[in-house]
Amino acid sequence: MAVRHFLSSLDFESAELAALVESALTLKHAGRGRGGLISGAPDLAGRVLALLFFNPSLRTRVSCESAMARMGGSTCQLSPGRDTWRFEDRPGVVMDGDTQEHVAELAPVLASMCDAVGIRKAELLTQDRASSASASYADLARDEFLQAFARHSEVPVINLESNSCHPCQGLADMLTLRELLEEPAGEPFVLSWAWHPKALPVATPHSQLLAAADSGMRITVLAPEGYGLAPDVVRQARERAEALGGSLVETQNPEAALKGARIVCAKSWGRLDAYGQSPEEARPADRLRGAWIIDEAKMARTDGARFMHCLPVRRGVVATSGVLDSPLSAVVQQAENRLWSTTALLADRLGG
Ligand code: CP
Repeated sequence: MAVRHFLSSLDFESAELAALVESALTLKHAGRGRGGLISGAPDLAGRVLALLFFNPSLRTRVSCESAMARMGGSTCQLSPGRDTWRFEDRPGVVMDGDTQEHVAELAPVLASMCDAVGIRKAELLTQDRASSASASYADLARDEFLQAFARHSEVPVINLESNSCHPCQGLADMLTLRELLEEPAGEPFVLSWAWHPKALPVATPHSQLLAAADSGMRITVLAPEGYGLAPDVVRQARERAEALGGSLVETQNPEAALKGARIVCAKSWGRLDAYGQSPEEARPADRLRGAWIIDEAKMARTDGARFMHCLPVRRGVVATSGVLDSPLSAVVQQAENRLWSTTALLADRLGG
């Protein structure tokens, strides 16, 4: 049977993702606050998850390590380019530059020693001028290293954030929506763009959008002109939401978006046409700063909405401390749910 990777939530039916969420809930109830091995989780003694982090991480890294440890397994951390070789993914390339190991060898070697591989590899949206020529969003969204690695891997590959999506964040957010609303289908969800001093990638908002869609919510994407998410992702999110009785609209009007909202999920992202620009060129315009922060006044326009953010969050920039410190904020619960959703995912992939 072909190995089943976890590269994008779009590779899975909404019902399959919902089943993982229910499994995560069960594991959370069994394991939260107790420490040690999680009762009812599969025994992963002797199983190893290799982790390749090309980019910084806190929640993703710790949730993977903790999930494996709490099922009796272990992890092997690799930081490519720092404590191991520089990897190559281009087919047919003559490797006389600065890469030393091709995924054609790397993936089967890791598969021979480990039981699953997690990869975080997201190119920055902004590039220095020397490397900007090839860095359009369309190019980067192909996630060539991740896809090449998965083609060569006989063990499950888990996307820990690529250029196109961050499905582990999406799965955790589905769990959080399920907890906050119990039955999220049909409830109003706002994904709001926020100003940020640097242009950030679109992978996380893509997966947050899909999480709300796979939960059947009535979604509003609130963003200024020019900040639309990738049209193919928006289209697929709309189709998945509608299949579950939900909907998806895009607007630049905060009044219309926030009225009646039950969830406000804030995230900053850069313009798709800014990929490859210099940090100065891609920086969101300062004129957007005051209007595009989530503050108490905005939350007051909602129907007592809970506030979500994937973290890390810049206080006083993306959201006010008043919002983040209020009882409406679910950001720590949302981050903790990275552990339980990842535990469910690894139990599903490795526990059989
Ligand atoms: N939300 C998230 O992926 O956090 P990290 O970047 O810290 O892993």
